Amino acid sequence: GKGNHRHFMMKEIAEQPAVMGETLNAFFNPKSRTITLPDLPFDWNELPKVTIVACGTSFYAGMIAKYWFEGIADLNVEVDIASEFRYRQMPLKKGGLALFISQSGETADTLAALKYAKANGQHIASIVNVEESSMGRESDFVFHTQAGPEIGVASTKAFTCQLVTLACIAIDAGVKRGVINHEEEARLCAALSEVPARAAEILDSDENIKALAEEIFEARDVLYIGRGTGYPIALEGALKLKEISYIHAEGYAAGELKHGPIALIDEMVPVIVVAPSDPYFEKTASNMQEVMARNARVIFLSDAEGIKQLGGRALGSIELPTVDPFVAPILYAIPVQILAYHVAVLKGTDVDQPRNLAKSVTVE
Ligand code: F6R
Repeated sequence: GKGNHRHFMMKEIAEQPAVMGETLNAFFNPKSRTITLPDLPFDWNELPKVTIVACGTSFYAGMIAKYWFEGIADLNVEVDIASEFRYRQMPLKKGGLALFISQSGETADTLAALKYAKANGQHIASIVNVEESSMGRESDFVFHTQAGPEIGVASTKAFTCQLVTLACIAIDAGVKRGVINHEEEARLCAALSEVPARAAEILDSDENIKALAEEIFEARDVLYIGRGTGYPIALEGALKLKEISYIHAEGYAAGELKHGPIALIDEMVPVIVVAPSDPYFEKTASNMQEVMARNARVIFLSDAEGIKQLGGRALGSIELPTVDPFVAPILYAIPVQILAYHVAVLKGTDVDQPRNLAKSVTVE
């Protein structure tokens, strides 16, 4: 059932601290502050490349993983959506790792992409949430996220559990490849182990986020911007909003604004700015100034330090806990889910069963 919640989506959002904790527990040793993955059927040092393939929200998890694998494991990573990858006839050097991310494990395009990679000599790993799945059966190795059944069509807890899993895999790869030392591993692990508690704090911002939803629910278009791992979060925020509230929304890399989308900006277009205190902060902040100079109504997602610097100029801010930038995308996923949820409730749409969408997309 939905427990105390009106919708499965909000129940599943609220479950995130617990299920991320369970997902992490499978790999994290709190005493030694290390990650231990089960024995993988390949050597991290011998991979020519990692190819990540998924659809929709799961694809955005893959985009975030690309930053992690490159940044802490020095791996070559390509990420693609399954419906393009499967038909592209991409040359794949034998012995690479192909990683498939899917809540259901049944998405037709992702499964076809998996078979293509398998036929082309890749090691096949998948991250799935449904215990028994077609992708699981076809893989050399399966990571099971512990999100539990996800009923709401819009993916929430499966996404953040995919991210926790990917973060663990990236740390393991970084250690095995000698890119990060034990001290760095311990720092990343400490940041990751804090995520469930910090996520629980974010749930307390519900009333504030609801008030901001009231400011934007009548908009026709909403833009989300971010940089680094905040960019896929901008894409994810926009996808959540459009699929459940039917408001047109787009996510952009903040640096791309001036190459086109800034032409859309006026006082009618709310802009959601994803800006944790990280090495991109100043750049994203200057993009925020640019849209404010064109009268955009900005909702600013940052931590105490970021909000102290810039929050006063925005229409509203959502304060997130101060965390290591490594784990910021996992946490910033949550307020964009909650914002989309409240906008949809205000619009009176069917939050758990949005029109034209199915939970598991088993047709092309
Ligand atoms: C969006 C959403 C979809 C799925 C996509 C892939 O909220 O849920 O975009 O992420 O259909 O589904 P899975 O992960 O089952 O392969």
